[in-house]
Amino acid sequence: MLLEMREITKSFPGVRALDGVTFDLREGEIHALVGENGAGKSTLMKVLSGVYSASEHGGAIVIAGAVKKFSGIRDSEAAGVAIIFQELSLVPEMTVGENIFLGREPRRFGIVQWDALYKKAADLLKQLHLSIDPRTPIRQLGIGQQQLVEIAKALSQEARILVLDEPTAALTDTEVQTLMAILEQLRQRQVGMVYISHKLNEVFRISDRITVLRDGKTIDTVATQETSEAQVIAKMVGREVHQVFPPDTRQPKEVVFEVRGLTVADAYTTKKVVKQVSFTVKRGEVLGIAGLMGAGRSELLMAIFGAYQGRVTGDIFLEGKRLRINSPADAIGQGIGFVTEDRKRYGLVLEQTIVKNMTLAGLPKLSGRFVTNLDKETRLGGKAMKDLRVKANSLFTIVGTLSGGNQQKVVLAKWLLNNPKVLFLDEPTRGIDIGAKQEIYTQIDKLAQSGLAIVMVSSELPEVLGLADRVLVLREGRVTGEFTRHEATPEIVMARATGSF
Ligand SMILES: Nc1ncnc2c1ncn2[C@@H]1O[C@H](COP(=O)(O)OP(=O)(O)OP(=O)(O)O)[C@@H](O)[C@H]1O
Ligand SMILES: [Mg+2]
Repeated sequence: MLLEMREITKSFPGVRALDGVTFDLREGEIHALVGENGAGKSTLMKVLSGVYSASEHGGAIVIAGAVKKFSGIRDSEAAGVAIIFQELSLVPEMTVGENIFLGREPRRFGIVQWDALYKKAADLLKQLHLSIDPRTPIRQLGIGQQQLVEIAKALSQEARILVLDEPTAALTDTEVQTLMAILEQLRQRQVGMVYISHKLNEVFRISDRITVLRDGKTIDTVATQETSEAQVIAKMVGREVHQVFPPDTRQPKEVVFEVRGLTVADAYTTKKVVKQVSFTVKRGEVLGIAGLMGAGRSELLMAIFGAYQGRVTGDIFLEGKRLRINSPADAIGQGIGFVTEDRKRYGLVLEQTIVKNMTLAGLPKLSGRFVTNLDKETRLGGKAMKDLRVKANSLFTIVGTLSGGNQQKVVLAKWLLNNPKVLFLDEPTRGIDIGAKQEIYTQIDKLAQSGLAIVMVSSELPEVLGLADRVLVLREGRVTGEFTRHEATPEIVMARATGSF
């Protein structure tokens, strides 16, 4: 056995995150690790990679027969473990190449060999079919590309054990294909891989075995061939999950929000990423925006919200009034809410409590003139937390200590409290487990029922088709189709998104 983790325990103040977990990995195997948000997946892998040192957890780690006691991530790297963390950990100010070889720069007589470094980086990027110049600073890349750079970084370590924690959350279908092909190659080279994902279709496509965690315990380990998605889901949530989308009972009213001829140009390249886009949204309506990555969907939303650094032209109307939006503060002030895809950069203050985060955008409304209304905040925050089933000890838990999916729920809760007139959602269920997804769909439906206009971008087509009253399709920055709920089929939408019609 390449890796055995025996009876692993790990506690945080008030939380028993891992409670006697057993997990093993063979050479050349892809072992999927699944479970609800907060089940303990990332924590288990942080134990494996030495983020939590041997003195901070119970149980034993055995690699190729030898007991290992890691006191830091360098130790696990030396033992052949590479990990791609769920929360990206690249340095934004450094270039792609510098990030890939950070701390392992090729040197001669102590001097970094930059040409060699960038050549090696370029080779790795080529393997991943990535056309990024390795000299590009990380901050200029979108979140999907950053994720691919993380993968390149892990590949460069030539590890025996590779851990991928939600590697495809921000990837397009083609990028996912590329990644899968690379994992196949690594399998041939006898690398053992741990694959964490909420996307069960991927898990079933790629894995040899599946281990289900629930509340910090191993529920079962099964051969992928011998189980089904339904069985795995039942083990994850401890109950059966049936209908995912709320029934189609909404009755959209009058138009409240309109965008006319919006054009957005990239600040660096001046290339137009959104071209003459126009659309309307009604009170009580969910408008879905479909398209491939790079179609300009996030840029469109960010531009409307005043968060895009580039040239934006065109007109935006709310309740018939033309808006001037130069910053997110302007947008919030006028009644626009925005759940961003990059929660780390724009959505959350990780070192603050849940309640502080929830009320950040809503503060002016909840507060008196000089004091914040703590009672009210706590009451509303508590309700939002319960509605969305945020798994945390209390409202005063620090957001950075929550599991990835639970952080996403806090972002949503923040906007539920802020009572916007129009709410933009960019990938609202990224990293969210299947049970909680249903919760979020129900909340989105409820918000629309209560009169909010909602615009939702999602890469998961079933989500767009299952939730939206109308679907707008974007391709290369332009609107290439608009369909009602009844007209929109996966085939039609994909054809418009890829241009193959
Ligand atoms: N640094 C920390 N401090 C306190 N509690 C923590 C910390 N890290 C994780 N936890 C808690 O441990 C539990 C397991 O979290 P973990 O991040 O491992 O979940 P996960 O299975 O990876 O979930 P997700 O699918 O949402 O990523 C959660 O209750 C979480 O809040
Ligand atoms: Mg996690």
